[in-house]
Amino acid sequence: MLLTHANLATFDSNVPYGLVPDGAIWIDGASIRWVGGMEDVPEQASAGESVDLGGRLITPGLVDCHTHIVHAGNRAREFELRLGGATYEEVARAGGGINSTVTATREASEEDLLRSALTRVDALISEGVTTIEIKSGYGLNIESEIKMLRVARRIARDRPIRVKTSFLGAHAVPVEYSGRPDAYIDEVCLPAMAIAAEAGLVDAVDGFCEGIAFSEEQIRRVFEAAKALGLPVKLHAEQLSNLGGTRLAAEFGALSSDHLEFATEEDVAAMARAGMVAVLLPGAFYFLRETKIPPIEALRNHGVAMALATDCNPGSSPMTSLLLVMNMACTLFRMTPEEALAGVTLHGAAALGLNDCGKLRSGARADLAIWDVEHPAELAYRIGFNPLHKRVFAGAM
Ligand code: NIG
Ligand code: FE
Repeated sequence: MLLTHANLATFDSNVPYGLVPDGAIWIDGASIRWVGGMEDVPEQASAGESVDLGGRLITPGLVDCHTHIVHAGNRAREFELRLGGATYEEVARAGGGINSTVTATREASEEDLLRSALTRVDALISEGVTTIEIKSGYGLNIESEIKMLRVARRIARDRPIRVKTSFLGAHAVPVEYSGRPDAYIDEVCLPAMAIAAEAGLVDAVDGFCEGIAFSEEQIRRVFEAAKALGLPVKLHAEQLSNLGGTRLAAEFGALSSDHLEFATEEDVAAMARAGMVAVLLPGAFYFLRETKIPPIEALRNHGVAMALATDCNPGSSPMTSLLLVMNMACTLFRMTPEEALAGVTLHGAAALGLNDCGKLRSGARADLAIWDVEHPAELAYRIGFNPLHKRVFAGAM
């Protein structure tokens, strides 16, 4: 299939967006065979089916590299409490927060979890998302963590989307281990990780390093176990305070450190040295009415790639729109529209350790989003408007 007369945001050259005006993409099976300007289309490419896109924009299929999209119930009541003056941390310490979603998720059947997650996944798909990361972390016992990860794998069988899973056993201390976080790590988190990894359910290991979650020392033990299993790590760090999580993640050569509102220049320098990606989550920043902005300027200066993701979860970011994330990144964090689009393509892929997507180039997977816009800046510019024309997943439109 040959897609013709499209503007291409390739992210594969030094011009802004890697833009190729009036370009074409030749798709062969599930991958891209050739990308370039209309005047250079190889003769062979014109032999098959060709689709004239009439000046529309093609970007890499979007990558949502940080989600908790598998979960049961919702936290609208907690939203009301916070509007009444309670803070996110107060709600969590009073037994609400993550633990209330844990109760609902433990009770839900695998089918129910799948059904509710698919409604959210479909919202992402409708905006051109072709790769999504999904975390466990609302089971917090062996059986329910495995259940969540199985549901995550089933999403990739039920929908045309690629799924990368992260084991997030170290998300919160469940009520039955209240005050005994180390026992929880030893008796539940580490065994669950080993069983899930053995079953092929884990692509990476994540944790939450925070006062309401786990200390740097506890996360270190989780990372050591992940390393022994040969799994890459990443971390929720510096979201509500600075506990040194990012520097720990850097020490382990983590894929990414995520949130980062309270990260310092020193943390950023450590990320740069370790080649990590900064995953910024403006939805959580917005929904929790955070006022401290992640160190964007330091990330730029140190050349740390900035990815953006929905953080789709019922407590701190109940959102299913990467387009809105892009707008928020620009309005709230003063990122540029180009940085925003790179954050949900090129750098989103890097945050998952993927180099076969997130760029339009020959040899990459044919995961594309085709938009009814003229210029790529329009994607971050509009609020609550979805200009997706068509989505191509593994070469299928
Ligand atoms: O990424 N920070 C920790 N975990 C989620 C919130 C989970 C919840 O509140 O349910 C986050 O923001
Ligand atoms: Fe998260």
